[in-house]
Amino acid sequence: MRCMTAVVETEGLTKFYGDRRGLEDLDLEIRLGEVFGYLGPNGAGKTTTIRLLLDVIRPTRGRMTVLGVDPRDARVRGRIGYLPGELALAGREKASEYLSFLAAARGGVPRERIAELADRLDADLSVRMGKLSKGNKQKIGLIQAFMHEPEFLILDEPTSGLDPLLQQEFLAMVREVRTAGRTVLMSSHVLAEVEHASDRVGIVRDGRLVAVEDVAALREKAVRKVEFHFDAPVPREEFEGLPGVRELRVEGASVRCTIDGRPDALIKAAARHTVVHMVSAEPDLEEIFLTYYGDEETRHARAAVEEPA
Ligand SMILES: Nc1ncnc2c1ncn2[C@@H]1O[C@H](COP(=O)(O)OP(=O)(O)OP(=O)(O)O)[C@@H](O)[C@H]1O
Ligand SMILES: [Mg+2]
Repeated sequence: MRCMTAVVETEGLTKFYGDRRGLEDLDLEIRLGEVFGYLGPNGAGKTTTIRLLLDVIRPTRGRMTVLGVDPRDARVRGRIGYLPGELALAGREKASEYLSFLAAARGGVPRERIAELADRLDADLSVRMGKLSKGNKQKIGLIQAFMHEPEFLILDEPTSGLDPLLQQEFLAMVREVRTAGRTVLMSSHVLAEVEHASDRVGIVRDGRLVAVEDVAALREKAVRKVEFHFDAPVPREEFEGLPGVRELRVEGASVRCTIDGRPDALIKAAARHTVVHMVSAEPDLEEIFLTYYGDEETRHARAAVEEPA
């Protein structure tokens, strides 16, 4: 199972805080060059995992490698960019001074690189650290994580506190990191905030990894709402019982339904008539994702969705 291109590999990784479970038996592989979204509700174990990978805390048991070595090896830290979940930035120092200090400590970062990131994130570097708003702290945190172009970016809730436009800009930055062949692990509560940049997502809850999914595969499985409008009324029978078609409503020249899996059969049925207009909503991945949080019943519902058509 050992893979040469794994950036993270853990086996039975476990952390108890006293008798409180933080994380139990995590087997996780993060591949070179991928963006891995690490999702879960409050208290699931996301930050615990990240702190273990960075050797901020030590495991109760289990083993792991990060960039091929034990995270206790101090040299690995310099190859990682890290945004902590709770950023403690304070003091009279200006943000620009703080970033210059970190840049020097990391062996130098071109000034233009910092300026470019600040510009993209609309961050004001002349503000004193102690006076930064929550969102602006997050921006400074992101700049210091990205600026030295590390091989591996570990971002604990990077989108929190960013307004929607900046979330988009941030996701664009993440996609550029992937294009450059570097690797990203980012945590979030909400799939929607990371799905457009993630290759795979892992779902953690109550200290356990409950699923790892390919985002493209998830999208293929997801339920979407579809509407067709024709130039004349169409017979309902032609659309009934098509693979994946549910909640079918045929009203005159309009057909509305949901579809899970491939829309191929539906499209071919529609193509027998003259299509004037069609609407296909973005699949609701969140809906699938939420089933992971549910009880036995919702897990069965999920299994049904996964059945081959
Ligand atoms: N220092 C600590 N001492 C005791 N328990 C802790 C400590 N840190 C975390 N825990 C517990 O471990 C579990 C996992 O916490 P963790 O912070 O990893 O969750 P998280 O997924 O990052 O949650 P959030 O979304 O709220 O950031 C929780 O039950 C939490 O209460
Ligand atoms: Mg956390």
